[in-house]
Amino acid sequence: MTDRAAFPPPVPAAPVVSRRGLLKAGLGLTAAAGLVLPGTGAYAAMEAANNLVITSYRLTPPRWPVGRRLTITCVADLHAGGPNMGIARVRQVIDAANALGSDLIVVLGDYFATHKFVTEVVPHDAWAEEVARLRAPLGVYSILGNHDWWHGIDAVRKALGRVHVPLMENDAVLLGEPGRRFWLAGLGDQIAYWLGPNRFRGVDDLPGTLKRVTTDDPVVLMVHEPDIFVKVPERVSLTIAGHTHGGQIRLPFVPPVWAPSAYGARFAYGHIVEQGRHLIVSGGLGCSQVPLRLGVPPEILHITLGA
Ligand SMILES: [Fe+2]
Repeated sequence: MTDRAAFPPPVPAAPVVSRRGLLKAGLGLTAAAGLVLPGTGAYAAMEAANNLVITSYRLTPPRWPVGRRLTITCVADLHAGGPNMGIARVRQVIDAANALGSDLIVVLGDYFATHKFVTEVVPHDAWAEEVARLRAPLGVYSILGNHDWWHGIDAVRKALGRVHVPLMENDAVLLGEPGRRFWLAGLGDQIAYWLGPNRFRGVDDLPGTLKRVTTDDPVVLMVHEPDIFVKVPERVSLTIAGHTHGGQIRLPFVPPVWAPSAYGARFAYGHIVEQGRHLIVSGGLGCSQVPLRLGVPPEILHITLGA
């Protein structure tokens, strides 16, 4: 089950440009594009900078005990940096995540903006201090994303370490009270090293990660890129991913034009179930390439298991 709530209410839609009106006015298609595209671009800039939605999922996946309620807030792809994710906006996101009051918070990597249009640099220490404000009874756990690896991994590690946010790389931790325990696992990044066009080397070790799981308690797995899902065994109740931004620029009623995945739109966004295995992909919060979003507003996930 999925539902979505705006936080705060979304900005109003951009005015609709009438095609007939344009034709009547004797304007050609080029002129129409000249009007529509800047309007769409302006709306996409507003969507990236102003909108924030809470997307909720309720599910009891296989191997998760029926009735064992656990709430998880997911903050993915913060990409801190203006114009859309300046430090004030980061604070708003962190406040909104805390306001959900979940049992557990997971932060899925790609912490700072690396595109060419950054208007406000948010220093590593600044976004890390905001991440460190996240609070949940069972803790706050993080993983790294590809942009963290590609643009200064040592500085990201130091920033998270300085504020004592636990960072999981091919590791698993047993959480919860006796009788309600579960494993939270975190995978190393799958495309940590760029080797050339569509060629990467990862630091992910899924078998090694799952070897850390030493009891029969259920498993929740954090990954940055969703592509690993094709290899995730049934032993894992739920895999949570980010990275794709849901395509970031998406037209209504059609799959995303582009998604950074070897599987195209298959794992681009949302709750995906394949052979009884469950994956939830967040649309994330920030932007890569350009500070625009269309049809995929910045979102925080609120996942409820077992209820
Ligand atoms: Fe990413």
